[in-house]
Amino acid sequence: MKHNVTVTTDQQEAVISRHIYGHFAEHLGRCIYEGLWVGEDSSIPNTNGIRTDVLKALQNINIPVLRWPGGCFADEYHWKDGIGPREERKRMVNTHWGGVVENNHFGTHEFLMLCEMLGTEPYICGNVGSGSVQEMSEWVEYMTFDGESPMADWRRDNGRQEPWNVTYFGVGNESWGCGGHMRPEFYADLYRQYQTYVREYNDNQLYKIAGGANVDDYRWTEVLMREAAPFMDGLSLHYYTIPGDFFKGKGSALDFNKAEWDITMERALHMDTLISRHRAIMDSYDPEEKVGLIVDEWGTWFDVEPGTNPGFLYQQNTIRDAVVAGVTLNIFNRHAGRVHMANIAQMVNVLQAMVHTDEEKMFLTPTYHVFHMYQVHQDAALLPIHMDTGISGENRAYPQIHGSASKQADGVVHVSLCNLDMEEDADVTLDLRGLSDKVNWEGTILSAEHKHDHNTFEDPERVRPQAFQDFKAGGAAAELRLPPMSVVVLAVS
Ligand code: AHR
Repeated sequence: MKHNVTVTTDQQEAVISRHIYGHFAEHLGRCIYEGLWVGEDSSIPNTNGIRTDVLKALQNINIPVLRWPGGCFADEYHWKDGIGPREERKRMVNTHWGGVVENNHFGTHEFLMLCEMLGTEPYICGNVGSGSVQEMSEWVEYMTFDGESPMADWRRDNGRQEPWNVTYFGVGNESWGCGGHMRPEFYADLYRQYQTYVREYNDNQLYKIAGGANVDDYRWTEVLMREAAPFMDGLSLHYYTIPGDFFKGKGSALDFNKAEWDITMERALHMDTLISRHRAIMDSYDPEEKVGLIVDEWGTWFDVEPGTNPGFLYQQNTIRDAVVAGVTLNIFNRHAGRVHMANIAQMVNVLQAMVHTDEEKMFLTPTYHVFHMYQVHQDAALLPIHMDTGISGENRAYPQIHGSASKQADGVVHVSLCNLDMEEDADVTLDLRGLSDKVNWEGTILSAEHKHDHNTFEDPERVRPQAFQDFKAGGAAAELRLPPMSVVVLAVS
């Protein structure tokens, strides 16, 4: 099918915050333990306890911000259990995720060290559901206060002299569900109370994030904006792409048919509707877009792989996940005025992960490669994109292609395009208005021969980016052929 795409390169919109390319790591399954933290005495090569192979892979995708320690885990986490000598730390049950022992070896110091190693800003989620105002307040004091105080002195006793820079702080997680089953009016009041004691010490400026809506709970957004907008910098939203039913069967990550492919694409595109509608409510209370919409959990969610712990949320990752990632990141880019941050769930071994590990082995997922390709959009200016793209009717009930475009400070324009169709090529005429005739085109593509293609420990490079050559450029326009199930990023300079 043929499509016309026009990008206006001399008209810049909002800046695409690099934080849209954020990640999330929870004490869940093998994300933190095994996936990131193996401990200094492990036979797996590590840097201060963090496995070196995973660290290096993550450094290559330029992660701007990392959310921790949950998730549902955050509202059961008591930070004081996770500091001091590791062998003395409390062993507890991770009640929410598999009932396994949590030995608290990865705590505040280890997380903030990981952030420093990754060059990433920390986003800490505090405990409202089962914690106290004092506990939350003291956590911030422990991490960020420079002077003499019980918490700052305790931090120094535990080996860290200087305070850390902690910018992003979440006040509870999913307070409508695992975070306390609250009503929005009740949570809005609690939010106002808790955030009062989340203090800014020295010159540390905090960006406070209120727990936001589940999917299409627009009333939650309405109440939070009405009752608490002046006290927040961000309001969150959680939405997962699930082809089946959350409770009755989400669908397999690897074994799916065309109907399941199609519904996955439709549900990934639904993120656009959700953001538009939450955004409209936020606009009515905050027309200047001061409060960011923080999509701090998103991604595919399938049934766990057969034979794995149901509480560990381990799923494989195919080219379908890569297309979902490309589409979703395009949507965030296009809503950059309001979407200030997003965090894919989750970083390693859980849900739509970047990296999978097994003992000393590791491979990168197709989703990792999309993050690698899309990092060019971080902090670039959003460009208007017009996509004249049809719904073919017979084959699918959603647009075949989806894209976004941006311009970096040095003038390089990047256009990311996805072909969502499982079977058909997409022929695209791309016109970059406002560019001179003398331009240089380069492209990278991620695609696959079969819809189930994915990487494994035995075949780690089955799905990997390659140079994209199927285009003819003439000045500021080009004719491209995007193969089925593909994600392409073009650089035009
Ligand atoms: O990411 C997995 C879980 O999904 C999180 O812990 C929770 O916040 C959400 O329901």
